[in-house]
Amino acid sequence: MKTKIDPDELFQRYKEWTLLGPHKFRTVILLAQKAIDDTSCSTVAEIGVFNGGVTFALAEIALTVHAYDTFEGMVNVNEEVDGTKLPDGRFKTKQTALQELRLHSGIQVFKGTFPETAADTKYSFVHLDIDTYHGIKESLLYLKDHMMPGGIIVVDDYTFKNTPGCTKAVDELSGTLLPPHIKAGCQALFFF
Ligand SMILES: C[S@@+](CC[C@H](N)C(=O)[O-])C[C@H]1O[C@@H](n2cnc3c(N)ncnc32)[C@H](O)[C@@H]1O
Repeated sequence: MKTKIDPDELFQRYKEWTLLGPHKFRTVILLAQKAIDDTSCSTVAEIGVFNGGVTFALAEIALTVHAYDTFEGMVNVNEEVDGTKLPDGRFKTKQTALQELRLHSGIQVFKGTFPETAADTKYSFVHLDIDTYHGIKESLLYLKDHMMPGGIIVVDDYTFKNTPGCTKAVDELSGTLLPPHIKAGCQALFFF
């Protein structure tokens, strides 16, 4: 078990390294902490890491963080479902950030397209932040069998106008192959 740290303090520490604002960031940290406590499983993941702010913060509260990203930016964007705001290559990770992620003893880096890169393990908590219809749908279909009972997935950008594919993927799976989601601002929460 790691000591609890105030989410707002973590935000101040890592805000230069994340696209998330303070409210979404706090939700992620509080729910990750709850899922770790409820499941007694301290293995968590971020899928869609970019420069790593959320991943570094998760590593302060979890023993093991799996960091999944192409680290080359967006891939397989389909303008018909994802709109025009997410060109391939957007959000390419800074080299310095990738080096820091690789050097961190609590973080395991998986470079490539999720879920092809997925480690065969179960998670208490996942932050899923990859924006595209195809990526989010495939990821959720994979994750539904890789969550601990009591685990939580937070999907970023649900109902955000620039990521219509994210909303479509969540709506198609919610309450059918996945438990019904809870909408919290522009985040979708799945409780297992
Ligand atoms: C919006 S950014 C993530 C922001 C990050 N969570 C933060 O806190 O700033 C989206 C990321 O998803 C990654 N990505 C997109 N599709 C992916 C996929 N199928 N597998 C792995 N990474 C993917 C991109 O490379 C990009 O870094």
